[in-house]
Amino acid sequence: MRLVTSPTDIKEVTERYHLRHLTVGLVPTMGWFHEGHLSLMRMARKNADKVIVSLFVNPIQFGPNEDLDSYPYDLERDSRLAEGEGVDILFAPEKNAMYPKNFGSTVSVTGLTSQLCGSSRPGHFDGVTTVVAKLFNLTRPHSAIFGEKDYQQLAVIKKMVRDLDFPIKILGHPIVREKSGLAMSSRNSYLEKGEMDAALSLFRSIQKAREFVSKRSAEDVDAAQIKSLVHNVINFHRECEIDYIKVVNDTTLEDCHKITKNSLLVLAVKINNRIRLIDNSILKGS
Ligand code: PAJ
Repeated sequence: MRLVTSPTDIKEVTERYHLRHLTVGLVPTMGWFHEGHLSLMRMARKNADKVIVSLFVNPIQFGPNEDLDSYPYDLERDSRLAEGEGVDILFAPEKNAMYPKNFGSTVSVTGLTSQLCGSSRPGHFDGVTTVVAKLFNLTRPHSAIFGEKDYQQLAVIKKMVRDLDFPIKILGHPIVREKSGLAMSSRNSYLEKGEMDAALSLFRSIQKAREFVSKRSAEDVDAAQIKSLVHNVINFHRECEIDYIKVVNDTTLEDCHKITKNSLLVLAVKINNRIRLIDNSILKGS
């Protein structure tokens, strides 16, 4: 595996891949790899001749009171893990190389970004789409893999690719969970022992909601019932502050009132006002 840090070098590498008619799969990340990231790399490996993983803690997608300064980072550890997955290139640029002093452009997707994490984290998705558009232009992938854990992010990227005609196939990967059910996240490293139970309430509430729906004819279930059930499970833990609990259509991300096979339960919860966790699940079927 080769470590590339300069945008000029990565453009050269991808140019050579294109000249050799090799397909490129990209996995954009902010590092501190866990099994979720590694599964995305394995999916990329199956879909392309060459796999590029980007590792860049993108400052412009963090709000002023968020965890940019404490975000976990260990390039050596991550290089070893990526190499173990047969990644060809780890692209880890410096902040100034991605955003030089005179940088002044934003890629902004409207509509899908006005709700859920978009309303709790103003500017977040502009930061994501701007960096992902840059990464697409630098690495020119044929396919790019994103996790369904960040469901809204995946939907926003798909829309950007459609709207702006990027010739890239966007593939979604299912959520990878700990044995306990906790959705894997680099931010789980902030959790202290005593906070685990509260963190697990997200998954437990999802299980309860799915169980509730499975025992009934889905059309008879109101989103309001689900939201109240989920609210009770999470609110039981005084460490939890609910950011949102919503049932939305899995394509438009607009609120659902009755449960259908397209109804997606989406959650964002802050633990002890420090750690923001998200999770989601389709309510009916697998
Ligand atoms: P990061 O949080 O590092 O996540 C990188 C990719 O891994 C994303 O596509 C995310 O959805 C996926 N991922 C994280 N945890 C997962 C899990 N438990 N199961 C499945 N997939 C999981 O998301 C970002 O970085 C950034 O916003 C980025 C897209 C790189 C832009 O800066």
